[in-house]
Amino acid sequence: MTQSEEFNQILKNCCERNGIALDEKQLYLFGLYLKELQKWNKVHNLISTENEREIACRHFCDSLTLVKFFEELGYKPHSLVDVGSGAGFPGVPLKIYYGDTLEVCLIESNTKKSSFLTYLKTKLGINYRVYPTLAQKVEIKCDVAVARALEVKGKKKHPLEYAVSLLSGLTKSLIAIMGGKNIDPLLVKKLNLKVFELNTPNFRGLKILYKFLED
Ligand SMILES: C[S@@+](CC[C@H](N)C(=O)[O-])C[C@H]1O[C@@H](n2cnc3c(N)ncnc32)[C@H](O)[C@@H]1O
Repeated sequence: MTQSEEFNQILKNCCERNGIALDEKQLYLFGLYLKELQKWNKVHNLISTENEREIACRHFCDSLTLVKFFEELGYKPHSLVDVGSGAGFPGVPLKIYYGDTLEVCLIESNTKKSSFLTYLKTKLGINYRVYPTLAQKVEIKCDVAVARALEVKGKKKHPLEYAVSLLSGLTKSLIAIMGGKNIDPLLVKKLNLKVFELNTPNFRGLKILYKFLED
């Protein structure tokens, strides 16, 4: 088996175990994404690991858990903004998954990371929009605004409270924060967030905090 066949197999298996099916074209694009991440990481330190298995499961498949979330909610967004996208998570994996059926915007204030995202778009031949600036300066409204591991620091507000207000300004309908495992239930209640708990083998217990703006 070649190295890229092995990576495809790891990613395919990890996604299948967690209820997400990938076709050949999607696997090919994830393979290209992996190579570019590894190449850029040597110089720009975009992510903490270059290990293929970890990138496949901890970044690509984890980002795709939002697919399960949308399915369970019975919600099909046509446009999505990823706030603090970093090296592209979760926005780029979601664009690879949904293709032309989802318009994706990525907001990333770090210049090295936003340059990578712009370069990656051409390399992968896929179409998304990159905003290389602070989310506070962007004036768009998508169906859904998402964030994964976003640590926005406000002087007066808790980071989660700050993230909710930031995301709320960028969406017409839904915000979703990929929240990890340890979340203060009192704060979640105070912010009127709902909790979606993942229940698949690799992500059991992980929470997505969400809110429909009309709620
Ligand atoms: C911890 S990283 C997470 C990156 C990615 N979402 C992931 O899950 O790997 C947080 C990213 O958010 C970006 N960021 C933080 N505050 C931001 C803001 N107000 N507007 C745009 N980007 C922001 C940072 O530059 C950083 O790349």
